[in-house]
Amino acid sequence: MMNIHAPGTLLDLEPSRAEFRDAVLSGLSSGTKTIPCKFLYDVVGSRLFDRICDLPEYYPTRTECGLLSLYGDRIAEFAGSRASLVEFGSGSSVKVRLLLLALNQPASYVPIDISREHLMQATTALAQDFPNLSISPVCADYSALEALPSSSIRGSGRRIGFFPGSTIGNFSPQDAGEFLHLVKRLLGPNSLMIVGVDTPKNRSTLEAAYDDAEGVTAAFNLNLLARVNRELDGDFDLTAFRHQAIWNERESRVEMHLISASKQVVHVAGRRFGFTEGETIHTESSYKYAPDCFQTLARNAGYCPRAVWTDEEGQFSIHLLEIAS
Ligand SMILES: C[S@@+](CC[C@H](N)C(=O)[O-])C[C@H]1O[C@@H](n2cnc3c(N)ncnc32)[C@H](O)[C@@H]1O
Repeated sequence: MMNIHAPGTLLDLEPSRAEFRDAVLSGLSSGTKTIPCKFLYDVVGSRLFDRICDLPEYYPTRTECGLLSLYGDRIAEFAGSRASLVEFGSGSSVKVRLLLLALNQPASYVPIDISREHLMQATTALAQDFPNLSISPVCADYSALEALPSSSIRGSGRRIGFFPGSTIGNFSPQDAGEFLHLVKRLLGPNSLMIVGVDTPKNRSTLEAAYDDAEGVTAAFNLNLLARVNRELDGDFDLTAFRHQAIWNERESRVEMHLISASKQVVHVAGRRFGFTEGETIHTESSYKYAPDCFQTLARNAGYCPRAVWTDEEGQFSIHLLEIAS
């Protein structure tokens, strides 16, 4: 008989439709129009992001996976046995598999993600492959999380936060510091935090990574407008906006925008928004940090950097940080 393994019960703190509406209405009313990037990830956005990870232009995923495979044993030495993993923005829970295979008898895993349906699919697949692991999925905006579910952390080992994918770059440097402070409170003293951080590099590599030839990143960005149409009674014409990715060297960030192709009026949740030709909606920033700059940011947030690993070309870095006891 086949054994069916399932993850534990979902803790569902998904942001409400009203929160999405208020964020969109407020962002479209501001001088420079913007929509918070966390809303790029509904089930369609999450699937498109998975396709981005496989694109030849998108070097971060394969580089980070290479580093995790190479240095998993080193991470395992720091982690010890029976560790509890907490992943922030777990997506398809692909990279954590490399850690789970390297660690000595990991006890539990708490994947936290804002994209509920995708989170459940990912954790169901993981439970099949790791039947002895206790998995407690949490659907939430991780920056608004007040505590981890107390029953979710099992085992006597260390707590390990895992924040791969350079997702920390989606915060401004100040907000990244505040998030690290929050994680310190959530995980507690003596815990470890593993963060994947993208580095600054030449413009062509960076802009191609966020504007691929196949147009998958463009579809990912435009899905935000489709989501507004689906969920907030919007009437965005998706053919009247185009995707743009630009490397803002002064701010050390790649910016994603949706550019209005013409002067137009759009309605969302009963409100009217005018666009001039060329006006943009800023949908995502992805800050890039040299390893020493990120270590400074982590130190300022109360962490002790213990190790940093980069690939030969210095394209990507993985930071191992310790929360002081
Ligand atoms: C750049 S993707 C990285 C996915 C995966 N960790 C990886 O490394 O491939 C960011 C992930 O974080 C999730 N996410 C983004 N903002 C979030 C937020 N504020 N709270 C919780 N999850 C968030 C998205 O749904 C997505 O799965």
